[in-house]
Amino acid sequence: MAVEVKKETLIAPYGGKLVNLVVEGAEREALLKEASKLPYIQISERALNDLELLATGGFSPLDRFMGEADYHRVMDEMRLVDGTLFPLPITLPVDRDDLPAGVEKIVLRDARNNLIAVMKVEEAYTWDWKEEASKVLGSTDSRHPLVAEMVRWGDTYISGELKVLNLPHYNDFNELRRTPAEVRTLLEELGHANVVAFQTRNPIHRVHEELTKLAAKEIGGALLIHPVVGLTKPGDVDHYTRCRVYKALYEHYYDHSSTVLSLLPLAMRMAGPREAVLHAIIRRNYGANHFIVGRDHAGPGVDGAGKPFYGPYDAQELLSKYEEEVGVRMVPFKMMVYLPDEDRYEQSDKVPAGARVAEISGTEVREDYLAKGLLLPEWFTRKETAEILMEVNPPQHRRGFCLWFTGLSGSGKSTIAEALTPMLLARGRQLTVLDGDVVRTHLSKGLGFSKEDRDTNILRIGFVASEIARHNGTVICAAISPYSQTRNEVKKIIGHERFIEVYVDTPLEVCEQRDIKGLYAKARAGEIKGFTGIDDPYEAPRDPEIRLDTVDNSAEECAAQIISYLESRGFLQ
Ligand code: ADX
Repeated sequence: MAVEVKKETLIAPYGGKLVNLVVEGAEREALLKEASKLPYIQISERALNDLELLATGGFSPLDRFMGEADYHRVMDEMRLVDGTLFPLPITLPVDRDDLPAGVEKIVLRDARNNLIAVMKVEEAYTWDWKEEASKVLGSTDSRHPLVAEMVRWGDTYISGELKVLNLPHYNDFNELRRTPAEVRTLLEELGHANVVAFQTRNPIHRVHEELTKLAAKEIGGALLIHPVVGLTKPGDVDHYTRCRVYKALYEHYYDHSSTVLSLLPLAMRMAGPREAVLHAIIRRNYGANHFIVGRDHAGPGVDGAGKPFYGPYDAQELLSKYEEEVGVRMVPFKMMVYLPDEDRYEQSDKVPAGARVAEISGTEVREDYLAKGLLLPEWFTRKETAEILMEVNPPQHRRGFCLWFTGLSGSGKSTIAEALTPMLLARGRQLTVLDGDVVRTHLSKGLGFSKEDRDTNILRIGFVASEIARHNGTVICAAISPYSQTRNEVKKIIGHERFIEVYVDTPLEVCEQRDIKGLYAKARAGEIKGFTGIDDPYEAPRDPEIRLDTVDNSAEECAAQIISYLESRGFLQ
């Protein structure tokens, strides 16, 4: 199978020069002293990623967050004021109110307050998210992940000379984190004239392995596997898992004499075509002169009308116009598919007529394999990858969930929870019960029954429950939780896929008749104020996952109803 790459190889422009904003020695010492007296702001994770690439030359020749003139020309023409091609804005948003009046220099700190850089505030200008989104992304639809994020950025962009005192510090995969200069050195040591870079924000499956190996063969040179470990698309496989996959694959399936694996701290924009051009510029700076672009490169998915934001090959089309200027040849791939009868991958436009093709989508990976505890097939992914993915995504019957009981006082929440507990333990589930009354003796000690205190109590229970469920434990919460808005908030913290609302639907008259704790009598007599159902509202859930009738059913029967629901959802085998 062949890929079509133009044969003349390009040379890196700018004489291969890299920006370096990191100051050292006496200058650093002096600046550290000065910094201790300057005002500071904390910058976002995205800005920190951008700053790191500015500092080390990943964005060369850009050496600062963009000023107003560069920003506008980049939006309109994909060029800096001096004419250099640059496809996307790299900006530092702040709230105007956080900027001290007349400030000349400001310290930039990360979210944990680590000192990163000192910036001369040469410009502070307002910007408009709608203008930026429509010009740069071609859409203002909030389903675009960057649009969803941009609307919350500060109203002002600041720009000016940067001096970096400390590069961001990491405690994971440091052996794979390298600056552009370091990657260039490694590539030079391998001694190949040509280098092709591969961008990814996903685990590497067989199809990607195929792309990378074919591309390296085609250019007759080295391969730079260059996955993004900065911000990617929300919902992507986290970088810890991905890096374990990359390391295992590099170890077992790539030729070390012609392959470099290195991590890229880029904050992706999911800007499709414009982002592909940026990716190529970055890889040029890291020492590659070829770059792989396949189907739907840096694609953000579909808009509100279900239409993809960008066409599958828009990125290839745009980059093809700028190859010479960037100094990087594109290695384009059409959609690659697997041919099971021939046990090989092929580009979709070259599949022989009538041949069977096989594919497994991301959703199928999650639902048809991982959730069912099935190992992904070897034609799709290497067994090392399949095992790592399985380990971090246990099957449904080993995933955590939260049973959130809600109902009036005396409706039977605690009694049903008690009946249910041994049934779940007997099915191998590790269980925590957070009973409202018990929780009020420690976790929520001191809280009363005002609306505010009730909400605080529920949110505390919700927070603890979310941690338990996230770590694949089982948690039963049994508190009146009378307000639907608060229950919805809890559902959001815990995650809708793990949150099971159980409405213990016992009528007020019945609860009052039972009056086990004698509280209804006291409430009626006016001895207790703000009692749910008497002089405080109970907002019944409109769409609970489970509704229990305790009038005609015993606690055991209700518990059994919950068990069969859990079986139907796959939470119990
Ligand atoms: S991206 O956001 O980084 O582009 P991803 O990690 O999925 O997402 O893709 C990395 C690169 O591989 C992109 O150039 C993409 O176009 C290419 N690619 C991924 N899957 C395929 C495929 N099945 N066929 C062709 N190209 C692909």
